[in-house]
Amino acid sequence: MNISVFASGNGTNLQAIINAVKKGKLKANLALVVSDNKDAYALKRAKRARIKSVFIDPKLFNSKEDFENKLIENLEAEHIDFIALAGFMRILNPGLVQRYKGRIINIHPALLPSFKGSHAIKDTFDYGVKVTGVTVHFVDELMDHGPIILQKALAIEENDTLESLESKIHRIEHRLYPEALRLISEGLLSLEGRKVKIRIP
Ligand code: GRF
Repeated sequence: MNISVFASGNGTNLQAIINAVKKGKLKANLALVVSDNKDAYALKRAKRARIKSVFIDPKLFNSKEDFENKLIENLEAEHIDFIALAGFMRILNPGLVQRYKGRIINIHPALLPSFKGSHAIKDTFDYGVKVTGVTVHFVDELMDHGPIILQKALAIEENDTLESLESKIHRIEHRLYPEALRLISEGLLSLEGRKVKIRIP
Protein backbone atom coordinates (compact mmCIF):
# COMPACT_ATOMS: atom_id res chain seq x y z
CA MET A 1 0.00 0.00 0.00
CA ASN A 2 1.46 3.35 -1.07
CA ILE A 3 0.31 5.98 1.41
CA SER A 4 0.33 9.74 1.16
CA VAL A 5 -0.08 11.84 4.29
CA PHE A 6 -1.53 15.34 3.90
CA ALA A 7 -0.54 17.76 6.68
CA SER A 8 -0.66 21.53 7.14
CA GLY A 9 1.01 21.90 10.52
CA ASN A 10 3.17 20.29 13.15
CA GLY A 11 2.84 16.76 11.82
CA THR A 12 2.96 14.78 15.06
CA ASN A 13 0.48 12.30 13.57
CA LEU A 14 2.67 12.03 10.50
CA GLN A 15 5.56 11.29 12.87
CA ALA A 16 3.54 8.57 14.58
CA ILE A 17 2.91 6.97 11.19
CA ILE A 18 6.59 7.28 10.22
CA ASN A 19 7.56 5.60 13.51
CA ALA A 20 5.04 2.78 13.04
CA VAL A 21 6.40 2.08 9.56
CA LYS A 22 9.99 2.15 10.86
CA LYS A 23 9.18 -0.26 13.66
CA GLY A 24 7.47 -2.62 11.21
CA LYS A 25 4.13 -2.23 12.99
CA LEU A 26 2.60 -0.79 9.83
CA LYS A 27 3.56 -2.57 6.65
CA ALA A 28 3.04 0.17 4.11
CA ASN A 29 5.13 2.44 1.98
CA LEU A 30 4.87 6.04 3.12
CA ALA A 31 5.54 7.42 -0.33
CA LEU A 32 4.58 11.08 -0.24
CA VAL A 33 3.88 13.88 2.23
CA VAL A 34 1.78 16.71 0.86
CA SER A 35 1.38 20.12 2.45
CA ASP A 36 -0.44 23.30 1.56
CA ASN A 37 1.77 25.26 3.96
CA LYS A 38 5.42 25.80 3.13
CA ASP A 39 6.29 26.34 6.80
CA ALA A 40 4.61 23.16 8.00
CA TYR A 41 6.90 21.34 10.41
CA ALA A 42 5.47 18.17 8.86
CA LEU A 43 7.62 18.87 5.77
CA LYS A 44 10.76 18.90 7.96
CA ARG A 45 9.74 15.60 9.53
CA ALA A 46 9.33 14.11 6.05
CA LYS A 47 12.76 15.33 4.96
CA ARG A 48 14.37 14.00 8.13
CA ALA A 49 12.81 10.59 7.46
CA ARG A 50 13.84 10.80 3.78
CA ILE A 51 10.27 10.66 2.58
CA LYS A 52 9.38 12.48 -0.60
CA SER A 53 7.42 15.63 0.18
CA VAL A 54 5.79 18.36 -1.79
CA PHE A 55 4.44 21.80 -0.92
CA ILE A 56 1.61 22.81 -3.19
CA ASP A 57 0.77 26.49 -2.85
CA PRO A 58 -3.00 26.99 -3.09
CA LYS A 59 -2.42 30.68 -3.93
CA LEU A 60 -0.93 29.74 -7.28
CA PHE A 61 -4.21 28.29 -8.56
CA ASN A 62 -7.29 30.05 -9.83
CA SER A 63 -9.74 27.53 -8.45
CA LYS A 64 -10.00 24.71 -5.92
CA GLU A 65 -10.30 22.32 -8.86
CA ASP A 66 -6.99 23.44 -10.34
CA PHE A 67 -5.32 23.07 -6.95
CA GLU A 68 -6.72 19.59 -6.55
CA ASN A 69 -5.77 18.57 -10.06
CA LYS A 70 -2.22 19.39 -9.06
CA LEU A 71 -2.64 17.24 -5.94
CA ILE A 72 -3.92 14.37 -8.08
CA GLU A 73 -1.02 14.77 -10.52
CA ASN A 74 1.43 14.39 -7.61
CA LEU A 75 -0.45 11.43 -6.16
CA GLU A 76 -0.54 9.61 -9.46
CA ALA A 77 3.14 10.21 -10.10
CA GLU A 78 3.89 8.31 -6.87
CA HIS A 79 1.21 5.62 -7.47
CA ILE A 80 -0.54 6.52 -4.24
CA ASP A 81 -3.42 4.24 -3.33
CA PHE A 82 -4.30 5.59 0.08
CA ILE A 83 -4.46 9.07 1.63
CA ALA A 84 -4.30 9.87 5.35
CA LEU A 85 -5.27 13.42 6.28
CA ALA A 86 -3.37 14.48 9.39
CA GLY A 87 -4.17 18.05 10.29
CA PHE A 88 -4.74 19.07 6.67
CA MET A 89 -6.59 22.33 7.06
CA ARG A 90 -8.81 22.28 3.99
CA ILE A 91 -11.93 20.55 2.85
CA LEU A 92 -11.28 18.32 -0.13
CA ASN A 93 -13.28 18.85 -3.30
CA PRO A 94 -15.84 16.21 -4.29
CA GLY A 95 -13.70 15.40 -7.35
CA LEU A 96 -10.75 14.23 -5.26
CA VAL A 97 -12.99 12.47 -2.74
CA GLN A 98 -14.76 10.55 -5.53
CA ARG A 99 -11.52 9.59 -7.20
CA TYR A 100 -10.15 8.11 -3.97
CA LYS A 101 -13.49 6.93 -2.62
CA GLY A 102 -13.02 4.66 0.39
CA ARG A 103 -9.29 5.37 0.25
CA ILE A 104 -9.06 8.60 2.25
CA ILE A 105 -9.16 8.73 6.04
CA ASN A 106 -8.98 11.52 8.58
CA ILE A 107 -8.27 11.83 12.28
CA HIS A 108 -10.40 14.11 14.42
CA PRO A 109 -9.69 15.07 18.04
CA ALA A 110 -13.23 14.52 19.39
CA LEU A 111 -15.91 11.86 19.37
CA LEU A 112 -17.77 12.48 16.12
CA PRO A 113 -20.47 13.41 15.31
CA SER A 114 -19.99 15.81 18.25
CA PHE A 115 -17.64 18.76 17.95
CA LYS A 116 -16.86 18.81 14.25
CA GLY A 117 -14.56 21.52 12.94
CA SER A 118 -11.02 22.68 13.35
CA HIS A 119 -11.03 23.67 17.06
CA ALA A 120 -12.51 20.49 18.46
CA ILE A 121 -10.28 20.14 21.52
CA LYS A 122 -10.92 23.69 22.69
CA ASP A 123 -14.60 23.37 21.85
CA THR A 124 -15.00 20.22 23.96
CA PHE A 125 -13.03 21.77 26.82
CA ASP A 126 -15.01 25.03 26.77
CA TYR A 127 -18.32 23.18 26.51
CA GLY A 128 -17.55 21.26 29.67
CA VAL A 129 -18.20 17.75 28.40
CA LYS A 130 -17.02 15.00 30.77
CA VAL A 131 -16.05 12.57 28.02
CA THR A 132 -14.30 13.28 24.75
CA GLY A 133 -11.88 11.32 22.60
CA VAL A 134 -10.49 10.67 19.14
CA THR A 135 -12.13 9.47 15.93
CA VAL A 136 -10.58 7.99 12.79
CA HIS A 137 -13.03 7.98 9.90
CA PHE A 138 -13.32 7.64 6.16
CA VAL A 139 -13.60 10.94 4.33
CA ASP A 140 -16.70 11.71 2.30
CA GLU A 141 -17.95 14.94 0.73
CA LEU A 142 -19.05 16.43 4.07
CA MET A 143 -16.77 17.73 6.81
CA ASP A 144 -15.92 15.25 9.61
CA HIS A 145 -18.74 13.01 8.44
CA GLY A 146 -17.70 9.71 6.79
CA PRO A 147 -18.01 6.21 8.29
CA ILE A 148 -16.21 5.78 11.61
CA ILE A 149 -13.31 3.31 11.72
CA LEU A 150 -12.04 3.66 15.30
CA GLN A 151 -12.93 5.76 18.30
CA LYS A 152 -11.28 6.00 21.68
CA ALA A 153 -12.91 7.81 24.58
CA LEU A 154 -11.18 9.86 27.25
CA ALA A 155 -12.59 11.29 30.48
CA ILE A 156 -11.97 14.98 31.09
CA GLU A 157 -10.87 15.37 34.70
CA GLU A 158 -11.72 18.41 36.81
CA ASN A 159 -8.09 19.41 37.07
CA ASP A 160 -7.47 19.16 33.31
CA THR A 161 -6.41 22.33 31.55
CA LEU A 162 -6.74 22.89 27.82
CA GLU A 163 -3.03 22.05 27.54
CA SER A 164 -3.26 18.81 29.52
CA LEU A 165 -6.32 17.76 27.52
CA GLU A 166 -4.53 18.50 24.26
CA SER A 167 -1.57 16.38 25.22
CA LYS A 168 -3.80 13.46 26.34
CA ILE A 169 -5.74 13.66 23.06
CA HIS A 170 -2.55 13.74 20.99
CA ARG A 171 -1.15 10.73 22.83
CA ILE A 172 -4.29 8.78 21.91
CA GLU A 173 -4.13 9.99 18.31
CA HIS A 174 -0.57 8.79 17.91
CA ARG A 175 -1.63 5.23 18.76
CA LEU A 176 -5.01 5.21 17.03
CA TYR A 177 -4.01 6.54 13.59
CA PRO A 178 -1.24 4.01 12.86
CA GLU A 179 -3.55 1.29 14.19
CA ALA A 180 -6.32 2.31 11.74
CA LEU A 181 -3.82 2.29 8.89
CA ARG A 182 -2.59 -1.14 9.95
CA LEU A 183 -6.14 -2.54 9.86
CA ILE A 184 -6.59 -1.08 6.39
CA SER A 185 -3.23 -2.28 5.09
CA GLU A 186 -4.02 -5.79 6.31
CA GLY A 187 -7.40 -5.74 4.56
CA LEU A 188 -9.33 -6.16 7.80
CA LEU A 189 -12.01 -3.51 7.22
CA SER A 190 -15.26 -3.76 5.33
CA LEU A 191 -18.06 -1.28 4.91
CA GLU A 192 -21.80 -1.97 5.29
CA GLY A 193 -23.58 1.32 4.68
CA ARG A 194 -22.13 3.68 7.28
CA LYS A 195 -20.88 0.82 9.43
CA VAL A 196 -17.25 -0.18 9.35
CA LYS A 197 -16.74 -3.82 10.32
CA ILE A 198 -13.36 -4.93 11.64
CA ARG A 199 -12.45 -8.55 11.02
CA ILE A 200 -10.39 -10.09 13.80
CA PRO A 201 -8.01 -12.57 12.15
C1 GRF B 1 -4.70 16.62 15.23
O1 GRF B 1 -5.23 16.95 16.49
C2 GRF B 1 -5.74 16.01 14.35
O2 GRF B 1 -6.72 15.30 15.06
C3 GRF B 1 -6.37 17.23 13.72
O3 GRF B 1 -5.32 18.11 13.49
C4 GRF B 1 -4.29 17.86 14.46
C5 GRF B 1 -3.00 17.69 13.71
O4 GRF B 1 -1.91 17.60 14.56
N1 GRF B 1 -7.09 16.86 12.51
P1 GRF B 1 -0.48 17.22 13.99
O5 GRF B 1 -0.15 18.21 12.88
O6 GRF B 1 -0.54 15.82 13.48
O7 GRF B 1 0.47 17.35 15.14
